[in-house]
Amino acid sequence: MLGCVSRRILVIGGTRFMGRFLVARCLARGDRVTLFHRGTRPNPFGARVEQLIGDRTSPDFERALSGRTFDAVVDMVGYQGADVERAIDVFAGRVGHYLFVSTGQVYLVRENAPMPSREEDYGGPLMARPQGDDAAQWDYGVGKRACEDALIAARDRLPSTRLRIPMVNGPGDEQQRIARYVRRMLDGGPLRVAFADRRVRHVDAQEVARTIDLLLGDARVLGEAVNQAQDETPTLRELLGLIGHEIGAQPEIVDDESVGTEASPFSTRWMSFLDPAKLRALGVGHAPLSTTIARTVGHVLATL
Ligand SMILES: NC(=O)c1ccc[n+]([C@@H]2O[C@H](COP(=O)([O-])OP(=O)(O)OC[C@H]3O[C@@H](n4cnc5c(N)ncnc54)[C@H](OP(=O)(O)O)[C@@H]3O)[C@@H](O)[C@H]2O)c1
Repeated sequence: MLGCVSRRILVIGGTRFMGRFLVARCLARGDRVTLFHRGTRPNPFGARVEQLIGDRTSPDFERALSGRTFDAVVDMVGYQGADVERAIDVFAGRVGHYLFVSTGQVYLVRENAPMPSREEDYGGPLMARPQGDDAAQWDYGVGKRACEDALIAARDRLPSTRLRIPMVNGPGDEQQRIARYVRRMLDGGPLRVAFADRRVRHVDAQEVARTIDLLLGDARVLGEAVNQAQDETPTLRELLGLIGHEIGAQPEIVDDESVGTEASPFSTRWMSFLDPAKLRALGVGHAPLSTTIARTVGHVLATL
């Protein structure tokens, strides 16, 4: 660990959901933080961070970052192998630890993906690219795998860690997943959901930020992939009941196989279910699900 020493940290991204929580934590502990992002929204940290504006998929990246050194780089927005290959070329020999935010979808695009998925389940044949709406989901998982594979191939040039996470909940979720259920409950209407009795295991945005903060500079995870997820595995029906309880509602849940993710964001088959045992063995836990629900629902109600 880098301990209490102030770290020089670059966050690629960092201005929206999980990245914002991460940057706030790093600043609180006295790190010197640089953000690289396109600037589509104002940087919420003002002069407390160094801000570099550019697109990571373009030569902006080399222009802004060639020759720079950092104790750690957190890559919040790599989606294609080329994104990470470009970063490897810029940072090899200049960065102590590169932490890549990946996804549990790297397991879902595998043929017969085991559930729960453990880190060693990454290897093996991939499913064929599906047709229709599923194609974009497959592309996402395969793109993230290409990013991870680039880091694995470059492990002698750039010390890195791949953090795999499932669906993320928390205040400020841009996809408004829990917010949509809460609004429907407040309307008093029934919740139409598919897969109501399937077990789900998500992750809390602030726990992801805390995990990244803890892992930066940790020699035990160099060259490794690690899963993070909450401990609880409620069914979707139970999870919606807990959310309802938080606002004093008892939602009527209608199991409807045909419902889409617009009506029920957790009713997708593209939802990974990760085993976080490896991270737990490293001493990194996760706040209780009740904390995630209280944080998230409280924020939804405050911003209705
Ligand atoms: N949300 C989930 O449920 C979930 C689940 C699993 C994995 N993930 C992973 O989590 C990561 C995203 O997390 P987040 O939204 O919380 O991150 P974030 O760092 O809070 O927000 C995304 C950041 O990336 C910047 N950005 C986007 N495209 C860029 C580009 N081409 N060049 C430079 N900067 C760019 C955005 O700012 P500008 O717009 O100003 O550029 C913003 O700062 C992704 O890697 C995703 O795969 C998310």
